[in-house]
Amino acid sequence: MKKYISSPFIALLIGGLSFFACQQPAEKKAPAPTSAMEKSSFGTLPDGRSADLFTLRNAQGMAVKITNYGSTIVSCTAPDRAGKYADMVLGCDSLAGYLRGVPYFGAFIGRYGNRIAKGKFSLDGTIYSLATNNIGNALHGGIKGFDKVLWTAEPMQGDEPALKLTYLSKDGEEGYPGNLKVEVVYTLLKDNSLKLDYTATTDKKTVLNLTNHSYFNLANAGQGDILGHELVLNASTFLPVDSTLIPTGERRPVAGTVFDFTQPTAIGARVNDAKDQQIKFGGGYDHCWVLTDSSKTLKLAATVHEPTTGRVMEVLTTEPAVQFYCGNFLDGTVVGKGGVAYAYRTGLCLETQHYPDSPNHPAFPSTVLAPGTTYRSTTIYRFSVKN
Ligand code: GLA
Repeated sequence: MKKYISSPFIALLIGGLSFFACQQPAEKKAPAPTSAMEKSSFGTLPDGRSADLFTLRNAQGMAVKITNYGSTIVSCTAPDRAGKYADMVLGCDSLAGYLRGVPYFGAFIGRYGNRIAKGKFSLDGTIYSLATNNIGNALHGGIKGFDKVLWTAEPMQGDEPALKLTYLSKDGEEGYPGNLKVEVVYTLLKDNSLKLDYTATTDKKTVLNLTNHSYFNLANAGQGDILGHELVLNASTFLPVDSTLIPTGERRPVAGTVFDFTQPTAIGARVNDAKDQQIKFGGGYDHCWVLTDSSKTLKLAATVHEPTTGRVMEVLTTEPAVQFYCGNFLDGTVVGKGGVAYAYRTGLCLETQHYPDSPNHPAFPSTVLAPGTTYRSTTIYRFSVKN
């Protein structure tokens, strides 16, 4: 960061002092880190197209790597309370790892985050059938969702590094109606926040629920589970699900249940509560929490604190809900960065979004996007430390 001399008097004083110091060689200071963006190759797709990796760096030293394959966050570093940086997200070293198959590590999720029951919904009397990929339901956009397509990337001008990614999803893709133009801008802010700004437009009425599926482990991705992370969710209700993880339609108060994260609570404290049927259905936490503040403004949805490193992540969003998933399906079969096999519950996801299966629940906030209107959504992951 550049430092400016604030008054001419101080400038004169310093000038005079350096004169009397009899031409001592000027003290050489290490150059302050500046914000920047670099681009490198990430690998080649089976059809010959190449994917890139963009590194966004801020002046504090935080770095975020994003590939245009799946508009995916590949790595994200922040300091602990001793100033030591570590990578906090699960992912792979190169495109080949993602092509082998990963459970949405860092991925852009679309067109529809989470599940649509039986892959069916109707709009204005037309029934749409989606690609189903999860025990008869449509999950995270279908067989080839936005996590598995190559986006167009364009670094943006500005004093904070920002990357714009765009994708045109054709009418009928994975069964969804309308040509959908979707865009996300990732900006790494000076205060160690990663901001995601989504916009989309369509030429035919459709449904849309975009999110990011990063798996965080604030202690250091790949080293240990996330059960000691303390979580706060600013939500007084959650959505119970059936055995296939489709919301039943009920909004249940969290008070008195193992879903109450209104006070900081270790994720592992109640995640195995065998008496709770919802925990059984989810294999742990894999549910949608409805934010108490239902406004469309940016508000604090969740705070995660990792006590051994002091790292804190705050999640702010304009969305009405957050899907909290604690890595119940991770089982060590997927090998990621540095050859690490990601074991059970070694990452947690806080997917800011509308409610799952909204197109089949008229009482849920609408996820319909009509021509002539623009979908807008913002989420911020803000990193800091607590001593
Ligand atoms: C979401 C879902 C989970 C699971 C993961 C990916 O969070 O709710 O059930 O599908 O994504 O494995």
